Amino acid sequence: MRICVVGAGYVGLVSAAVFADWGHDVVCVDIDREKVERLQEGDLPIHENGLAELVDRNVWDGRLCFTSEFFLGLFNLELVVIAVGTPLGPDKYPDLNALWNVVNLLKQYTRGRLTVVVKSTVPPGTCAAINRYLNEDSDERFDIIYNPEFLRQGTAINDFQAPDRMVIGSQSNSAKILMAQLYESINCPFLITDWLSAEMIKHAANAFLAIKISFINMISNVCEEVGADVQQVARGIGLDQRIGPAFLKPGVGFGGSCLTKDTQALVALGEDHGVNVWLLRDALQINHEQRLRVVKELSEQLGGLEGKVIAILGLAYKANTNDVREAPSLEIISRIVQLGGEVVAYDPVVDMDALQNRISFRPAASPYEAVDGADAVVVLTEWEEFYGLDLQRIRTLLKNPVFVDGRNMFGPKVLEKHGFLIEGGLSGEKIMGVA
Ligand code: UGA
Repeated sequence: MRICVVGAGYVGLVSAAVFADWGHDVVCVDIDREKVERLQEGDLPIHENGLAELVDRNVWDGRLCFTSEFFLGLFNLELVVIAVGTPLGPDKYPDLNALWNVVNLLKQYTRGRLTVVVKSTVPPGTCAAINRYLNEDSDERFDIIYNPEFLRQGTAINDFQAPDRMVIGSQSNSAKILMAQLYESINCPFLITDWLSAEMIKHAANAFLAIKISFINMISNVCEEVGADVQQVARGIGLDQRIGPAFLKPGVGFGGSCLTKDTQALVALGEDHGVNVWLLRDALQINHEQRLRVVKELSEQLGGLEGKVIAILGLAYKANTNDVREAPSLEIISRIVQLGGEVVAYDPVVDMDALQNRISFRPAASPYEAVDGADAVVVLTEWEEFYGLDLQRIRTLLKNPVFVDGRNMFGPKVLEKHGFLIEGGLSGEKIMGVA
């Protein structure tokens, strides 16, 4: 099949590379010329396990190419996949400008019939609007499909190739047949719905994950007060098949471009329709407060943050990505600096130079360099390499025995064994504070 994927972000790049790997002929278009030039040279703008190899192989085999010229992508086309970004706008609704630009170009330059697969996350009602616009003066020339993506950064390729389910929002039989051909190697339940339901599924899935994380963080805060171990509580409830163990990891809360954005969009949508969406609002508020708890805990343990140096380990919003969008680290660092503290940060993959233009911190080349002479250390990303940290060495390098484990990687007993004083908070169990 000849496919044009528009947008070389996470979803676009992964879709393009995997479609090509399945044997399709794929052109990936992005208006960002610099990004396209980098991609043409084999330099990926994102850090995603296995993606560079997949892109290289398929470019080399001639099934995948990148261009910033939209017209080249439209040549002899059977399917166009729209995977452009839909970031949250100032009115808490996603900004759909990029998406509508693509739709406009399609209307202007497409000859003959075309199936348009929307993978970008769009507010319910968007696909119907695209359909009205594209087909207003033609005889159903465009088939619109909403095909939401549920891939997670860090495991994106595997999630794309082996999803839990495939959601296809479409009114047309020929479009459904085309999708069955496209995804013939995928073995999972296929759910065929109308556009609106497919658009709602995407938002509801992310909002549910957000609620689940905020729920366990709220439980964690109660556990801390009463002296229970939240890890055991999470395990105890997660073994119930109706609840399940995933997304019950307490800590500094969720970040990333999707959970917050989609939950906020759902809040806006519900409120516009007069629906009570407090549950969603509370999930967002709890998430925000988890970040502030880190700063509060540091401040309490160090007797204020004025003049204090805080080592931050991990800047990415989660492990195995260089993405810092909505990362807890950004808000926590800004708050520490506002309160007079200084931050030294280490992350194995985040582009430190780019980030230094946005927030104030000193980059360190290793976790040990970051903690050397610092007043306290905070872990904000669960990077695999942090599990192997020499905690004894960290204890010796730090001025004070203050370790805030924002991802619950070590557990209070291990930290206590290495001489750290833990005020509970994000670490699950109350031990003691710094005098
Ligand atoms: C999320 C969804 O999981 C995907 O299904 C969806 O396709 C994607 O958004 C999207 O809409 O594009 P992602 O943002 O890559 O994927 O990452 P998640 O694995 O969902 O993690 C989100 C945040 O929650 C991270 O900051 C993570 O550290 C945090 N988290 C996750 C917890 O704090 N506790 C948990 O138990 C799980």
